[in-house]
Amino acid sequence: MCGIIGAIGCAHAAEILLAGLKRLEYRGYDSAGIATADASGFAVRRAVGKLSNLASTLESEPLSGETGIGHTRWATHGGVKVENAHPIIADARVAVVHNGIIENHRQLRRELTAKGAVFTSDTDSEVLAHLFAEAIDAGGGLAEATASVLAQIEGAYAFAVMAQDFPHELAIARQASPLAIGLADGAMFVGSDALALGDVSERIIFLKDGDYGVLTQDAAALYDAEGRKANREIVAISASPGLVSKEGYHHFMEKEIHEQPDVALHSLGAFQDAEGRLHLPWDVDFAAMKGVAYLGAGTSYLAGLVGRYWMESLADLPVAVEIASEFRYRQPAMSQINLALGISQSGESLDTLMALKYAGEKGADTGALVNVASSTMAREAKHVLLTRAGVEVGVASTKSYMAQLVVLLILAVVAGHQRGVINDKLRREMEVMLASLPRLLGASMACIDAIKPIATYLARVNSCLYLGRGVLYPVALEGALKLKELSYIHAEGYAGGEMKHGPIALIEEGLPVVALLSDDNHFPKMLSNIVEAKARGAEIILIATESAITKAENEAETITKMKVSVPDCNPLLAPMVLSLPIQQLAYQTATQKGTDVDQPRNLAKSVTVE
Ligand code: G6P
Repeated sequence: MCGIIGAIGCAHAAEILLAGLKRLEYRGYDSAGIATADASGFAVRRAVGKLSNLASTLESEPLSGETGIGHTRWATHGGVKVENAHPIIADARVAVVHNGIIENHRQLRRELTAKGAVFTSDTDSEVLAHLFAEAIDAGGGLAEATASVLAQIEGAYAFAVMAQDFPHELAIARQASPLAIGLADGAMFVGSDALALGDVSERIIFLKDGDYGVLTQDAAALYDAEGRKANREIVAISASPGLVSKEGYHHFMEKEIHEQPDVALHSLGAFQDAEGRLHLPWDVDFAAMKGVAYLGAGTSYLAGLVGRYWMESLADLPVAVEIASEFRYRQPAMSQINLALGISQSGESLDTLMALKYAGEKGADTGALVNVASSTMAREAKHVLLTRAGVEVGVASTKSYMAQLVVLLILAVVAGHQRGVINDKLRREMEVMLASLPRLLGASMACIDAIKPIATYLARVNSCLYLGRGVLYPVALEGALKLKELSYIHAEGYAGGEMKHGPIALIEEGLPVVALLSDDNHFPKMLSNIVEAKARGAEIILIATESAITKAENEAETITKMKVSVPDCNPLLAPMVLSLPIQQLAYQTATQKGTDVDQPRNLAKSVTVE
């Protein structure tokens, strides 16, 4: 993931910025750069590859100045080359570092070019630099220029901007991507996270979505999305070199849940070209395949179950989804499995590792869908698909599961296209649909308040059922898993249609049933399942898209008082959008019960034993 750092009022800004970039390394990157401003103007140093390359460049060509910005870039729009590394400079007078994707960059680039702007990179970010140059020319201060730029851009972003006309100021803004300010005596800093700021500041302001502002050496003038002056809390953090911080959240899990719009953005960006078209960094011929196997444990296994719905419906390719520890010992038939994909956040779960090895020995091509590039699975598999979730500290997986889902859907779209099930037009439609996911996830975050009273209720129960149909069935399984592992409440997930074949016997007055519903082809049958459960005394907790709730209430008026709605979306995206409330429900229930959310009893983040 891209990382941002900025400083004002530091005697040796470049040194401080380089140290900040080192602390951002964990996010992953493929190029880096620093720009500073001094009396003679802007100077920039950029390098592809490791930070040591940038450090060598700075050693031979040092940068002076007390104001500067730096960036680690994980290429999304535009390949890995020096010209695309940030800071990106327009007209030698505006320098920008940006994390996120400006969705309307093509149109803006066309308009700016027509007005005479000369672009030097392939990035979407460069439009920001030219828009700032234009807005500054229009007069007013840097805050006005920032507001004017924000009014023109769409998408997700965190950015910091230096302008020649305002040598002692930095413009900053965030939407969906994180950004924090670090306060110090006589100096001001900005960074992607508290970790980046850890060695320069112990007083941090975490910007909220839509915030923007102007930093000077001793003040931060901040505004909210409506342009009103914003006072944001200053959070004290203790310097903890090398550690990922909670950034003001109570738990890592809470922070990681909130990072998911950004994670989706980066996970998508990693598999998109400059035109937003999906591509895989693999030379895998899905057209010739008879079947694939998805291997995983825990939440990663459940991500595989969701992935099967997509691969089979979009690519007509059979998928065996296997609990890794079962697969490797049950002598599975391998003749129809051409590719085995190990799904693992850590890339170290022993069962998944061994199952993948077994599949490879039996002649299958092997792939690893992992979040840790340096992991054993990534090193041992023939093909690697990296998720861009960043470091996940909470033992119960949230954001890495989200990233797995994004990549599994991309995989299904690409395979479907290769196999001729999806034509060019449909593929394009799916690419556009996928691009809307970060925004949908951001909007789904608003469900938190509705969940609080439901969590208060659940914290008092002993047992709970989760129901879903179709692609929401594995999401129900994940909901139940999250609740039991975090809050120690017994929970089971079932396919709605299975209720009548046993679990309905459990229903008695007051049993909580969490029902997942979206406005898809399963709606009528799932609604019947909910009504059946309610008729037998269940307390229904409905987690559903807005239109599914409206439809359900029209058909069954008093269906429930406990409901959580998320934005309407294409049914293919429903597993991601509905995963946010189920994670929140488990998280909030557990915090109300006072359990150790980040390290639930008996659980480990990475299980490297059998
Ligand atoms: C452990 C963790 C789970 C995780 C599972 C698989 O059980 O507690 O959260 O889903 O391992 O881990 P992996 O790193 O392979 O995804």
